Amino acid sequence: MASVSTVTSALRRLEGKVALITGGASGIGEATARLFWKHGAKVVIADIQQNLGQSICKDLESSSSSLSNASFVHCDVTKEKDVENAVNTTVSKHGKLDIMFNNAGIAGVNKTNIVENTLSEFQEVINVNLVGLFLGTKHAARVMIPARSGSIINTASVCGIIGGSASHAYTSSKHGVIGLMKNSAVELGAYGIRVNSVSPYLVATPLAKNFFKLDDEGCLQVYSNLKGKKAGLVPQDVAEAALYLASDESNYVSGHNLVVDGGFSAVNPGFCVLGQSLSN
Ligand SMILES: NC(=O)c1ccc[n+]([C@@H]2O[C@H](COP(=O)([O-])OP(=O)(O)OC[C@H]3O[C@@H](n4cnc5c(N)ncnc54)[C@H](O)[C@@H]3O)[C@@H](O)[C@H]2O)c1
Repeated sequence: MASVSTVTSALRRLEGKVALITGGASGIGEATARLFWKHGAKVVIADIQQNLGQSICKDLESSSSSLSNASFVHCDVTKEKDVENAVNTTVSKHGKLDIMFNNAGIAGVNKTNIVENTLSEFQEVINVNLVGLFLGTKHAARVMIPARSGSIINTASVCGIIGGSASHAYTSSKHGVIGLMKNSAVELGAYGIRVNSVSPYLVATPLAKNFFKLDDEGCLQVYSNLKGKKAGLVPQDVAEAALYLASDESNYVSGHNLVVDGGFSAVNPGFCVLGQSLSN
């Protein structure tokens, strides 16, 4: 992906803020890292894909027009020591943590039949998508509570609000993500910390393409309620939603699941009398 240029200081919505992004080496996380950086944030990418993560940082750093900073820390979100280290590294480097984007996730195996699902397949998805997010929230809160401020954003999914769009493990994990987001928003509100989630529909990232065995073009053929978007839902769309939740523009927004699905989860295809949703 080509490097992004910064926007003028008046328009930079994260000027002076420090953001830690898990799963920042690819897809939605990468797009968010680039957008946060463009808006003046100091960005730390935490991921298991070291080469990819480091090359994104190099790309961002090579742009001469920014005073921002991008760095990589190796972190497996299922390991508490790694998550603790990622948070501590961010704070020692930049003095604080303003934004925690708990975004790392996996889709697991595409088995729709629960009888065929193994315990270890189920646990692997829960471990990355939910336990990893618990650890990210816990360690972000550890440093945000004394600061009495912060924005924690979790990547959930439309699979966190409806059934039938992914495996049992994935759907369970994303429902859990939204539950944890709400519970931690209640607790951490006492310290001025906001906690929200973004819930995307299908985005053509490596995760979705591998899971559905589709290429970019194939992803575009999947049902979309919102017509006329040539590229469908793209990582940048989700990054823009995360930017809103990270910025002071969402100052009083907490406990909110921001669905980015073009209306997909609002449609009941079994009983739709509006528009032409059934025939398309
Ligand atoms: N792509 C979609 O259609 C879609 C839809 C809804 C929600 N999501 C969610 O968006 C998030 C980002 O996924 P994406 O679509 O950008 O996929 P992606 O595969 O492009 O990115 C996921 C990133 O997470 C990292 N990761 C995986 N396991 C990790 C671990 N244990 N520790 C640290 N990092 C790890 C990967 O290395 C990768 O860089 C996930 O939580 C996913 O569930 C994706």
